Amino acid sequence: MSTLPVYLYGNDILKKKAKPVEEVSNEELKLIKAMFETMHESNGIGLAANQVGELKQILVVDISEMEAGKGTQPLVVINPEIVDEEGESEYDEGCLSIPDLRETVKRPERIVLRYNDINMKEREMEADGLMARVLQHEIDHLNGVLFIDHLSAAKRTLLKSRLTKIAKGEVETSYEVVVNVPKKKKR
Ligand code: NI
Repeated sequence: MSTLPVYLYGNDILKKKAKPVEEVSNEELKLIKAMFETMHESNGIGLAANQVGELKQILVVDISEMEAGKGTQPLVVINPEIVDEEGESEYDEGCLSIPDLRETVKRPERIVLRYNDINMKEREMEADGLMARVLQHEIDHLNGVLFIDHLSAAKRTLLKSRLTKIAKGEVETSYEVVVNVPKKKKR
């Protein structure tokens, strides 16, 4: 196993835009493999490279263990761009970088996505439901946006003390995390 520690809320890298990937070399392949292992070990259904400390436009998704994702394949998405969106839905989102916090977020129900696959082949896919939800959440990460940024100012004020605690690492996780680099917390 080669899992990576997950950067917690409060780390600047989560507010930064990831850079486009030009080619998938061994370095990226290793990163993608470690991202899958990290996501699976932490029971996540999506993970963006920012969350493991890499400003690269790479995200992974695996919703196959979820009722709404039965029969879907794990997905690697590189350099994503949402080219169309439609409808609206609400869902209680969580994030490995913001443990123990779930809030309802409104997003488009259906998206059309253009991206590169792991062979850098250009692809287009349509997604709705949970898959569209996770993809939008992870694409936000690559743009330096967190799901709590979608909440009202009033709601964010209510969450402030919990977020401050998370930023200090005062939260229990079953996975290794990074609290404001370079301090590390082991489980
Ligand atoms: Ni997240």
